[in-house]
Amino acid sequence: MIATHHMTMQLEAGGQTVTILEDVTVQIPEKQTVAIVGPSGSGKSTLLGLIAGLDRPTSGTIWLNGVEITALGEKAMARLRLANVGYIFQSFHLIPTLTALENVSIPLELAGDRHARQRADELLRAVGLGHRVSHYPVQLSGGEQQRVAVARAFACRPPILLADEPTGNLDSSTGQQVIELIMALHRDAGTTLVLVTHDQQLAASMERVITIRDGKIASDQFTALQQSESAHQL
Ligand SMILES: Nc1ncnc2c1ncn2[C@@H]1O[C@H](COP(=O)(O)OP(=O)(O)O)[C@@H](O)[C@H]1O
Ligand SMILES: [Mg+2]
Repeated sequence: MIATHHMTMQLEAGGQTVTILEDVTVQIPEKQTVAIVGPSGSGKSTLLGLIAGLDRPTSGTIWLNGVEITALGEKAMARLRLANVGYIFQSFHLIPTLTALENVSIPLELAGDRHARQRADELLRAVGLGHRVSHYPVQLSGGEQQRVAVARAFACRPPILLADEPTGNLDSSTGQQVIELIMALHRDAGTTLVLVTHDQQLAASMERVITIRDGKIASDQFTALQQSESAHQL
């Protein structure tokens, strides 16, 4: 479960206080798939970064799986993030001086996995990159880099996956492959998925769509997918 309670984020810019998110209260239960949509600059990336514990809100609280992360110190936060949250960026964010295998190994090594390399190798095979383990990011296509980033995000089997416009830098067929991969991992592992996107069709394939406008939740709706699924259960 992800929960934010009256979360506000303000920044000082040019001697002025800018409100980037205002009074955001939202709950996302385990295993749910959620699209975050809204105009550029509305606060989507800020929201995702706060949920991930990459940033701290000005006021309000954030809870991940029952732990109030806004009450944690840096070390405890880093540990909790490693165990609970996978993060996929629009621009991949791989470490350029490390091979694909080394990039995927890092979170496993940080988590103390003694078979980090072997597990990273398996993960890269699972995302169809068994033949690219020794390649550096610059030697990989955008789609391949994002698949490495997906493998890295899932390496420690986090219960929560956050993806910020994961297909934003990819052509549509490569983007589709990355989404299919993320959805397959979500289905297999029951991962909660929160995904920022400008793609209407992709948003509609999530169970829930939250629209952010000017730093506030403008709408929060379940999609037909969710309704048909719950109808199924009845
Ligand atoms: N470090 C920062 N300093 C000042 N303003 C920022 C900073 N980061 C983001 N912003 C501003 O906050 C707003 C929301 O940014 P962001 O969350 O990146 O929006 P989105 O992801 O929806 O495009 C934007 O107006 C942006 O310019
Ligand atoms: Mg953004």
